[in-house]
Amino acid sequence: VSDPSAHWDSVFAAKRPNQMSWFQNDPTLSLTLIAQWARPSDSVIDIGAGSSLLVDRLLDLGWRDITLLDVSDEALALTRARVADSMQYLTLVNADVRHWDPSRRYDVWHDRAALHFLVDAAEREHYVGAVLHALSPGGVLVIAAFAPDGPDQCSGLAVRRYDVDDLVDMFGPHFSLEDSRREEHATPFGTVQPFTWVVLRRR
Ligand SMILES: C[S@@+](CC[C@H](N)C(=O)[O-])C[C@H]1O[C@@H](n2cnc3c(N)ncnc32)[C@H](O)[C@@H]1O
Repeated sequence: VSDPSAHWDSVFAAKRPNQMSWFQNDPTLSLTLIAQWARPSDSVIDIGAGSSLLVDRLLDLGWRDITLLDVSDEALALTRARVADSMQYLTLVNADVRHWDPSRRYDVWHDRAALHFLVDAAEREHYVGAVLHALSPGGVLVIAAFAPDGPDQCSGLAVRRYDVDDLVDMFGPHFSLEDSRREEHATPFGTVQPFTWVVLRRR
């Protein structure tokens, strides 16, 4: 799509969060991996955060430096309304990650199902460059994308599918693979979407 913010704003305006294929009442794997490889005193950014409940759970666990980036302001508005009492711990960034240049560092970079929309090599290069600017040395990337046998579209948009090696290769020698998982995500419609997860640590 030429204007992803219009696309995603209309998605988030049209449906309730729990009617979207990617909805999770409990972002279990995100929380498991983040808790294993980082701690609440760390800073975290969630790329393509949408209206995910991950931020609510991180706040419950004591995280106090949380940045959510999304191209859709509608999605961020849903979160803003939900966690209104904790806004002092949050930074909301309405930006397209394909053109965004980070201005600070984070200890954890989390991305569930946003990176896989980057189908052009130049967009992925920009993404890796942003990670290299923004992730602290020793910091961790927690990334989930559709697996090779996953859907080839999401929300009507083409996606790129990844196995573990694809993600390791994408981020290159600056990172070491700490963990990887395969997840069979059950959508609210009763279908299954296989995801590949990796935890990569910046050397
Ligand atoms: C499949 S949803 C996943 C949302 C959330 N991570 C979750 O797990 O519930 C993809 C999200 O990425 C956002 N997104 C898509 N392309 C983006 C881009 N180029 N820059 C920033 N956000 C983007 C969408 O607005 C949407 O919120």
